[in-house]
Amino acid sequence: MNSLKALSLVILAALALSACGQKPAEPAVNANADVTTLLASADLKQGERSFLQCRACHSLNEGGINKVGPNLYGVFDSPAGQMEGFNYSEALLASGVVWDVQTMDDWLARPAELIPQNRMVFVGIRDPQKRANLIAYLQQQTQ
Ligand code: HEC
Repeated sequence: MNSLKALSLVILAALALSACGQKPAEPAVNANADVTTLLASADLKQGERSFLQCRACHSLNEGGINKVGPNLYGVFDSPAGQMEGFNYSEALLASGVVWDVQTMDDWLARPAELIPQNRMVFVGIRDPQKRANLIAYLQQQTQ
């Protein structure tokens, strides 16, 4: 073996070794990610599926009817309790909440914690990614 060939073998071996030494990319850890981060990878189809839990009580379309709960068209960036013709609880009206991505996330996690004494009978959604999927779907459908 001539020296040039030997040298190139050594270089190849070194390259192979360094490639092996590289760690694989870390998978994204979503457990503690905030809602804004989770929204970036939200799955609208899953969000639509989650909305099945809300649909009996809420419509989303412009001019949609109030059911057990208010129509939610235009809810984002709006103070709580603005849908005309819906009889809100005192608690919700006095809450001072403005619906943005963060307050919506808190609401959907545990409605009774964000606004005690509110009248929405819904326990909440524990999984942060599921909430983000639903919020993405709500955003898409209500504005
Ligand atoms: C059993 C009926 C019911 C279900 C199920 C329900 N809601 Fe509600 N929702 C209500 C009622 C009633 C209110 C008004 C609460 C009040 O006045 O205290 C409300 C209020 C809201 C508001 C505040 C609206 C505003 O105008 O300020 C949002 C946002 C909301 N619901 C979203 C959801 C979403 C998303 C789901 C599904 C995960 C859901 N709700 C499930 C009945 C329901």
